[in-house]
Amino acid sequence: MLTAEEIACVRSSFDMVFANATDMTTTFYQRLFELAPECRSMFPDNMDVLKRDFIATLAVLVGSLDRMTGLLSSTDILGRNHARYGVRPEHYPLVGEALLWSLAKGLGPQWTAEVEQAWRKVYEIISQRMIAISAGPRLP
Ligand code: HEM
Repeated sequence: MLTAEEIACVRSSFDMVFANATDMTTTFYQRLFELAPECRSMFPDNMDVLKRDFIATLAVLVGSLDRMTGLLSSTDILGRNHARYGVRPEHYPLVGEALLWSLAKGLGPQWTAEVEQAWRKVYEIISQRMIAISAGPRLP
């Protein structure tokens, strides 16, 4: 699904933003709430813990890109959790745009067309799987 070049591209760009993880996650949620203010109430008032959880989970996902089984089992858990939070399929493109925006801001000139394309593909794979699993039968 992903080429070795795309995986390398996503990993090296992620490493760069991970060095400034707080900035990246702050920009990400700011942009999300600008694009979708109606989503703000789904999240806790204090976002500090979630920011750390989000970047840590992104690191796990990026680390699993060359092991589809591992990647998909992580996305399945996330997808089920997100269905419980009330997240719907139409929210995913908004989160995708906020994520790309925060990566672009974090990377500056390193945000090339190639990097953007690779991240779009990765987000598509992750979000499609989360959406598909959340449409399945509810688990206890
Ligand atoms: C690649 C996509 C996404 C990733 C990696 C991600 C990651 C996370 C993580 C790690 C958590 C902490 C709890 C848990 O692990 O389940 C979380 C919680 C949450 N996410 Fe996401 N998420 C994604 C997409 C979305 C989307 C599309 C929405 C829709 C607005 C969303 C809304 C939420 C909400 C409302 C919570 C719960 C906050 C709380 O009550 O603590 N997420 N997300």
